[in-house]
Amino acid sequence: MSETSPSRQPQVVLGVSGGIAAYKACELLRRFSESGHQVTVVPTAAALHFVGEATWAALSGRPAATETWDRVHEVPHVRIGQRADLVVVAPATADLLAKAAHGLADDLLTNTLLTARCPVVFAPAMHTEMWEHAATQENVASLRRRGAIVLEPAVGRLTGVDTGKGRLPDPDAIFAACRRVLSGRAGQADLAGRHVVVSAGGTREPLDPVRYLGNRSSGKQGYALAVTAAARGARVTLLAANVELPDPAGVAVVNVTTALELREAAVKAAAEADVVVMAAAVADFRPAEYAAVKIKKKDGAEPAPVALVRNPDILAELSGSRARPGQLVVGFAAETDQVLANGRAKLARKGCDLLVVNEVGEGRAFGTDTNEAVVLGADGSETPIAPGPKEDVADAIWDLVAARLGVPSH
Ligand code: CTP
Repeated sequence: MSETSPSRQPQVVLGVSGGIAAYKACELLRRFSESGHQVTVVPTAAALHFVGEATWAALSGRPAATETWDRVHEVPHVRIGQRADLVVVAPATADLLAKAAHGLADDLLTNTLLTARCPVVFAPAMHTEMWEHAATQENVASLRRRGAIVLEPAVGRLTGVDTGKGRLPDPDAIFAACRRVLSGRAGQADLAGRHVVVSAGGTREPLDPVRYLGNRSSGKQGYALAVTAAARGARVTLLAANVELPDPAGVAVVNVTTALELREAAVKAAAEADVVVMAAAVADFRPAEYAAVKIKKKDGAEPAPVALVRNPDILAELSGSRARPGQLVVGFAAETDQVLANGRAKLARKGCDLLVVNEVGEGRAFGTDTNEAVVLGADGSETPIAPGPKEDVADAIWDLVAARLGVPSH
């Protein structure tokens, strides 16, 4: 993807039309700028009522382009669209979608949309009635027919007291969709017709009603796997163990807390899965006793030792049982030393098809947005995955999975 090239930053035009969700485009802009994209913000006149020019200029590091008649000799209404690698409009109001669908060009943003030859992404935001109106639906259909990517609005709280479909998709989701477009993966559907199960996060093993044994897994890599699998057409079940991230759109989320709960959910979901990826950090042990009331310290007494018992090894169990013929099972391994040797031994011990080995330690992998790994295959293969955003690591893992999946049997 071009973002890794130091010579040329991808040129992104962020069009902002006039809706209350315009403030969320600031977060989207920040994500683009921080990951090496050069962004030109083109707000409509109405958008400037919600977020002013100074904010866009400060966040993008360049003037916001607001008027067709500014700097006329530089013909910005033509140049901005021509130079772009991607145009994303967020929020896209019903009015903006209508203008784009009909080729109107009465301001700089709509001019830019007509001159752009690069991919265009619209992130709609409006009231449910406006989204569902036949006029809007026809406009969306004709934009999609012409190759534009119109994201589905999210469901949730709208302006005022209303809730329903029409919320601007989460800025992270818009950003992820845009990155797929820029990396040429938009439209990739090699997991269509597949059911994949991904576990994410870290289990918590309770000691009493307020305390638990846990781990530092954020769930970000597992969520990236779920999001990218859904983008590649898979039906996705995400088993989330104590993750503080919003539910990804289009993914069935099952929340669990303990390793035993995760095991139950994983066995159930695996029964009809083509692929199971165990990205969750599962506690190997749990307290032997659960105290139904909070454990109290006793004056002068030594603390009582905590007795532990083994948890089931879910990955080994799923690898051994293979609920469906041809089912692929993928494990993760976090290692601090002798990474490859430990990984090979673990792959053999667990019996899975692929093992994604991460080197962990100070500041590595846990809670960060980037990752790097080596994927070991039961077939003896060893595939390094370059350091990069967790979504890119996820795509590289799905590439290896897709190459090993046979012809769909259903
Ligand atoms: N795993 C599992 N059930 C467990 C423990 C781990 O399914 N009870 C899975 C994890 O989801 C991961 C893989 O096994 O996919 C590796 O987990 P890890 O804890 O690194 O491996 P262990 O076998 O526990 O080895 P060790 O802790 O000794 O490194």
